[in-house]
Amino acid sequence: MRIVSSIRDMQRIADDARGSGTRIGLVPTMGFLHPGHMSLLDAIRNDCGLLVLSIFVNPTQFGPTEDFDRYPRDLERDLAMAREHGADIVFTPAAEDMYPPRHQTSVLVEGVSAPLEGEFRPGHFRGVATIVAKFFNIVKPHIAVFGQKDAQQAAVLRRMTSDLNFDVDIVIAPIVREPDGLAMSSRNTYLRPEDRTEARAIYRGLMLAASAVAAGQDAPAAVRALALEEITRTGAIVVEYLRVVDAETFEDVGDILPGARVLIATAVRIGATRLIDNMILQG
Ligand code: PAF
Repeated sequence: MRIVSSIRDMQRIADDARGSGTRIGLVPTMGFLHPGHMSLLDAIRNDCGLLVLSIFVNPTQFGPTEDFDRYPRDLERDLAMAREHGADIVFTPAAEDMYPPRHQTSVLVEGVSAPLEGEFRPGHFRGVATIVAKFFNIVKPHIAVFGQKDAQQAAVLRRMTSDLNFDVDIVIAPIVREPDGLAMSSRNTYLRPEDRTEARAIYRGLMLAASAVAAGQDAPAAVRALALEEITRTGAIVVEYLRVVDAETFEDVGDILPGARVLIATAVRIGATRLIDNMILQG
């Protein structure tokens, strides 16, 4: 496994790989890797000859009061995990190379970026779309994988890829959960033990919603109410949003029609920690 931090070196490696007909796969991450990230590597390993994992805590996707400074980082551990899971290259660029002083360009995906996370984290998806576009131009992947855990991010990046004609296949890998249902996230490390116990209610709430839809409930308000009651039962969790939305546009849906691609998505605060989660609803 090679560790590459220079943008030019990464581009040269990508050009050489493409020149020799090697398919490049990209797993973009912000590090502090966990089994969810490993599942992203697993998802595309057999679809590419050069598997690149990027590690970059992207400053432009954090708001001024968010957790950029305290975002967990452990490069040594990440490198060991990446090596063990078959990454060929770990790309770790420096922030000053990705965003040199005269950097003035960003990518704004309208529409799907606006609701939910867009309301609570203004500018977040502009930062995400910009950095992923840059990675596409540096790593030159044929295929890139993102997690369903960040469902709206995945929808935004699909839109960007299509709208800007990036020749990249986007794969979305399923959410990886802890045994008690909590979706794996680098931010779970912020949870105090008592928060961690409370956090189980998120999965329970989403499961209640999914079960109700599977049993024939098609009214989003009723489905949402079930989840909300469970998630807020003990008062430890504050819900920022909990919405039943179209899985592509992230707009609210009317009745949940059989075969429609609908999901219930939430962002909550437990103590000082903000977590997101979602579940696909199948009528
Ligand atoms: O999902 C993430 O970890 C980040 O948003 C991403 C896609 C690596 C961009 O910084």
